[in-house]
Amino acid sequence: MRAPHRLTSLWIVLFTLGLVFGLGVAIVRAQADIQAQWARSKHANRLLATLESSADGFRGPAAAHCGRCHAQQGFLAWLPQLQRGNPGLITKPDGAPADVPFLLGLGLSRRTVQPITCTTCHQDDFRLRQAGSTPLLPAGFRAIGVGLGAQCMLCHNSRNGAIVWNQEDPRRYTAPHTSSQADVLLGKNVFFLDYGNNFISPHASFIGDSCVTCHVRFSQASHTFKADATSCARCHGRDLTMERVQGPARTMLRELEATIIAKIMANRSRIQVVRVWSARAYAYVDTVTIDPATIQRVDLVEIAGQQGITLTLTGGRRIQSQLGELRDAQGRPSFATSDPIVRAGWNYWLLRGDDSFGVHNPRFFRQVILTTLEALR
Ligand code: HEC
Ligand code: HEC
Ligand code: HEC
Ligand code: HEC
Ligand code: HEC
Repeated sequence: MRAPHRLTSLWIVLFTLGLVFGLGVAIVRAQADIQAQWARSKHANRLLATLESSADGFRGPAAAHCGRCHAQQGFLAWLPQLQRGNPGLITKPDGAPADVPFLLGLGLSRRTVQPITCTTCHQDDFRLRQAGSTPLLPAGFRAIGVGLGAQCMLCHNSRNGAIVWNQEDPRRYTAPHTSSQADVLLGKNVFFLDYGNNFISPHASFIGDSCVTCHVRFSQASHTFKADATSCARCHGRDLTMERVQGPARTMLRELEATIIAKIMANRSRIQVVRVWSARAYAYVDTVTIDPATIQRVDLVEIAGQQGITLTLTGGRRIQSQLGELRDAQGRPSFATSDPIVRAGWNYWLLRGDDSFGVHNPRFFRQVILTTLEALR
């Protein structure tokens, strides 16, 4: 009687050991997968972190600006400040603006700067650092009740303060930062449309964890942070594909772009003195006088956080400038900040930067474009 019993116990022990080992291997492999997926994502882009966030590098003291979202060390220094209600540039503990030695002390140097690493999002026990709601964001609003997506929105917002929808002269040519996803999801920060709280996307409020539901949990490879094209089916059924929303959205965005460009072309006689921006030098390199009649083509570009255009002149020469650096022959701005194309341009770049072509907030996307087209008429 006793022998078989002992044999059973042995089997149970072996089985349990095997289970524990297997589980251990599975956990290690899952972690390795996560590590490999993250390494493929742009969050692991150390080059951009170095470029924008090293105080002894290209940005110098402006690492206190860009380092908030482009480097682990900057983000972790900034987060408590943000949570206390100050979304501005990184400060020293006494509230004074951070200077270069202080930023280097944080680790924001070319040698040590880190991109968006595991500890940027995770605490020691892997819980996320921000959940439920956000503090006041650099984009001038709070996101309330957005689950774990709150973590993403701390960085993925337009970063340039709140927009007063009916302001006639914004007095700047600023473009929203390309990270405008939180603004679009929450339906915020556009001109011409009285957005208020009326345009929040169901994808922000009714799916639990907003960004995280689509980009992490429903993603085949969670830590690439890529939303799968097929994920719509999990909530909407197979027939609502991503393309059904994006196709028409792209058409509308192109129409907005073309309308802004047509307005600029119609007023091109005012473009006579152009400061020439060099993308390679990342600086103005020249000022030229041109004959407006030689402007063959206009394209919209974003230049160092400002709205800008590329001009193609007769003969094929192309020059670029920020919108605020174009003058007429009398030295007046070619386009005043009160010109509707400046506000329309902001709206265009907000939707363009979001980069989901309507998916994040289908109704807002359409309404902004229709209202902006009307304002340009
Ligand atoms: C509030 C957070 C935040 C701040 C502050 C910030 N960025 Fe970014 N930036 C982002 C995010 C998020 C992205 C990624 C957006 C995306 O992929 O849609 C990004 C993307 C970029 C890109 C890549 C754009 C592209 O199209 O590939 C550049 C370049 C950049 N930022 C430069 C800067 C510079 C320079 C500064 C400082 C003057 C700065 N950023 C400050 C959040 C921020
Ligand atoms: C941009 C933010 C971000 C970064 C960077 C990040 N994670 Fe995550 N991580 C998340 C989110 C969001 C979840 C999902 C939480 C949930 O669904 O409850 C998650 C979940 C996890 C989990 C739980 C298991 C799972 O798959 O749900 C582990 C473990 C984890 N991350 C490890 C890591 C490691 C290791 C790194 C670095 C290689 C990393 N994370 C980088 C945001 C991030
Ligand atoms: C600390 C700031 C920060 C946080 C937090 C953050 N991101 Fe990012 N994210 C960035 C920056 C910066 C980039 C752009 C890097 C580049 O262009 O090289 C980026 C890029 C991305 C991209 C483009 C990825 C690619 O590989 O093309 C996606 C998608 C994204 N983030 C989603 C998320 C999601 C989802 C979350 C929340 C789980 C999140 N991010 C949290 C800063 C952040
Ligand atoms: C309803 C699901 C859903 C939600 C919620 C969502 N996204 Fe997306 N997102 C997508 C899809 C789908 C795309 C388009 C991907 C494509 O075109 O391949 C996209 C595109 C993007 C892109 C540009 C494309 C890329 O992968 O580089 C970024 C960055 C991004 N989302 C970040 C976010 C952030 C940050 C949030 C929260 C503020 C968010 N998303 C919320 C589904 C979602
Ligand atoms: C996690 C669940 C979830 C995912 C994933 C999801 N949606 Fe939704 N979506 C919703 C909910 C909830 C609503 C609001 C209720 C409704 O209209 O059915 C909604 C509404 C919509 C609407 C109507 C918007 C409005 O303002 O009336 C469209 C269009 C839409 N989704 C498209 C998509 C597309 C395209 C994708 C994939 C890229 C997608 N959804 C992914 C949950 C989801």
